[in-house]
Amino acid sequence: MKNNIASIILAAGKGERMKSETPKVLHRVCGRPMVNYVLDLVKELKIKNNVVVLGHKAEEVKKVIPEGFKIAIQKKLAGTADAVKEALPKLAGISGSILVLYGDIPLLKKETLKNLLGQHVNSGADLTVLTATLDKPSGYGRILRDRYSAICGIVEEKDADDFEKDIKEINTGIFCVKKDKLEKLIKRIRPNNRKKEYYLTDIFNLIYKNGGVVEGMKISDIDEAMGINSRVELAKAIRIMQGRINEKFMQQGVTIVASDSVFINFGVKIGTDSVIYPFTVIENDVKIGKRCSVGPFAHLREGTELKDEVLAGNFIEFVRSRIGSKTFLKHFCYIGDTHIGSKANIGAGTVTANFDGQNKNLTEIKDSAFVGCDTIIVAPAKIGKSAVTGAGSVILRHQNIKDGETVAGVPAKIIKRKR
Ligand code: UD1
Ligand code: CA
Repeated sequence: MKNNIASIILAAGKGERMKSETPKVLHRVCGRPMVNYVLDLVKELKIKNNVVVLGHKAEEVKKVIPEGFKIAIQKKLAGTADAVKEALPKLAGISGSILVLYGDIPLLKKETLKNLLGQHVNSGADLTVLTATLDKPSGYGRILRDRYSAICGIVEEKDADDFEKDIKEINTGIFCVKKDKLEKLIKRIRPNNRKKEYYLTDIFNLIYKNGGVVEGMKISDIDEAMGINSRVELAKAIRIMQGRINEKFMQQGVTIVASDSVFINFGVKIGTDSVIYPFTVIENDVKIGKRCSVGPFAHLREGTELKDEVLAGNFIEFVRSRIGSKTFLKHFCYIGDTHIGSKANIGAGTVTANFDGQNKNLTEIKDSAFVGCDTIIVAPAKIGKSAVTGAGSVILRHQNIKDGETVAGVPAKIIKRKR
């Protein structure tokens, strides 16, 4: 989009209220650090010049920042205005407006930002801010309006008097401002407040006092404006994001039975006409094909792929495993670091013992194998095409069951060779 818009994303804060060793913006929403949702927005809007401000544990946060973002370091966390000051030199030589975003607003949508930028460019205002009206506005900065109802400032809750605290219109923290005005006036911000910080929000009053125009755009879906400051807010955001993710799958032709009980991480892929039953957890980097049936009570962990028409029933855990099409695993199994071919039948209670205390080892089960109930496979091991294991067999480390063979017992011995 607009070439004359650059962005600054603030992500230097510690996140005191999270009470965490982990920097706030790295806390995960549906399996993904919250800051990454914000970074997606500017990429989707095709904004070219973007600066992320890092500070607290910058090295750790840097690891999740994708290519194409400039990074500014805020040495001392002296407030949001100070963070923007650190970013501005990285945008030297660029004119136009700057979109300011905070790294703790993962629920904001692209369309909303597009509207905000559209209004800002069309109206020619010096600053355009996204506001929201909340029944319980606590924690947010309140929007101050003059007697002609023009925005004349923002007061932070900590510094607000009782009258100001009653104001229901809040600052989402998302705004677009002309760069020359910002650069000129930001220097005048002083830490005259309860927190002794340089508040970026003071720029509103400075622009107003200097005869500039500050405009607001009200957000209709107030969830979008939510800034995550505490674990309670994090849980709320996760619930909302999960709703969005599940709804998108349903729109794409996936049935989710009892959606509130199904947890699917960001970036998971599921093919059409698959059905996900209640109490199922699907983690990062999982791919499910078409017409699969998963759950109830299934746990698909990272790096798992189910090809089409796989039936994965109740109480199954998968991790880093590939399951071929039309393979059935209907009842309680642990399948770790395993490659299973197509049309195999994996009996109830099958366990792949993938961890030997030091390493994770691979199990291979070929097409049309029939693994009897309660088979334990101590990896690394291999079960050939159409091979059969008897109920309760234990396949030992490095055992290689040949195609068509039948084995049984503890440890498993050949009871029938391939005809
Ligand atoms: C801020 C706004 C408030 C608004 C709210 C919306 C200010 C002073 N207040 O309050 O008006 O209603 O967001 O969610 O801006 N950060 C830095 N460096 C710093 C301090 C913060 O980079 O020195 C970053 C944080 O990492 C965070 C963002 O700025 O991503 C906002 O900081 P936070 O402390 O969450 O501000 P709020 O108190 O929520
Ligand atoms: Ca915040």
